[in-house]
Amino acid sequence: MKFTSSSQELKSLLKSEQDKGKSIGFVPTMGALHSGHLSLIKQAQKECDIVVCSIFVNPTQFNEKSDLEKYPRTIEADKNLIKNYCDYLFAPETAEEVYGDKIELIEFDFGGLENELEGEFRPGHFQGMANVVSLLLKIVTPDKAFFGLKDYQQYKIVCRLVEIIKLKTEIVGCTIIREENGLARSSRNELLSEKGREVASVISYTLNYIKKYHAHFSITEIQEKAKAMIQGILEVEYLEIRDAETLKNITSWENNNGVFVSFAGMIDGVRLIDNIRF
Ligand code: PAJ
Repeated sequence: MKFTSSSQELKSLLKSEQDKGKSIGFVPTMGALHSGHLSLIKQAQKECDIVVCSIFVNPTQFNEKSDLEKYPRTIEADKNLIKNYCDYLFAPETAEEVYGDKIELIEFDFGGLENELEGEFRPGHFQGMANVVSLLLKIVTPDKAFFGLKDYQQYKIVCRLVEIIKLKTEIVGCTIIREENGLARSSRNELLSEKGREVASVISYTLNYIKKYHAHFSITEIQEKAKAMIQGILEVEYLEIRDAETLKNITSWENNNGVFVSFAGMIDGVRLIDNIRF
């Protein structure tokens, strides 16, 4: 695995790969890598000749400065985890390396996708995310870019982003990797107590319950039931049942583009998200 922190160097390395006819798969991350990230890299390896991973803690997608400062930085462990699966690791050391001298954000119009669910609780988050993804895609110019469905709303927004900025990159959504007890893998899980980590399995249990039994209930009935199943174990921020394409509310189990159930909640002072689609 070749390491660089320079976007210019990365561009010229990748240009010579592309000149040789190699296809490029790209996995953008913020580091603190775990098996969820690794699964994206392995998927990229399956589908493309060359795999590029980036590690950049993007300042413009954090609502709280303290979250940005607290974000774990574990570059040596990250390198070790991915070195056998990844060809190029791009880890810019400054925001200028990605944004240029001045951070000027473009306000993209995602048709409201960016204001639903996570967008409501994290104002500006998706615009910051989309800006950095747009810049990274322009540096890497990959054939395919891989995103986890754990962050389904992010995935949908990135799909829209490449249409808006007219890039040919195909966006691939990858399966959620889970702990043995069903808890979606996240670097935040490390912050949970042993008990917290165990009981947080109620999230995926409940999401699966909704998928399995939804037809027996109305949307509001099962939503209330599901919230009650989790409440008391976690503090529920939201549990929403939405249209899987528009992320808007649905009024029936039919007449939609698939059902998307999205959860966010707190346990042990740690915010967890998860989702299911059917
Ligand atoms: P980060 O949180 O580091 O996540 C990088 C990628 O890993 C995302 O596509 C995310 O959905 C995926 N991922 C994380 N946990 C996963 C799991 N358990 N199963 C499957 N995929 C998982 O998402 C970001 O970084 C940033 O917003 C970024 C896109 C890099 C822009 O800054």
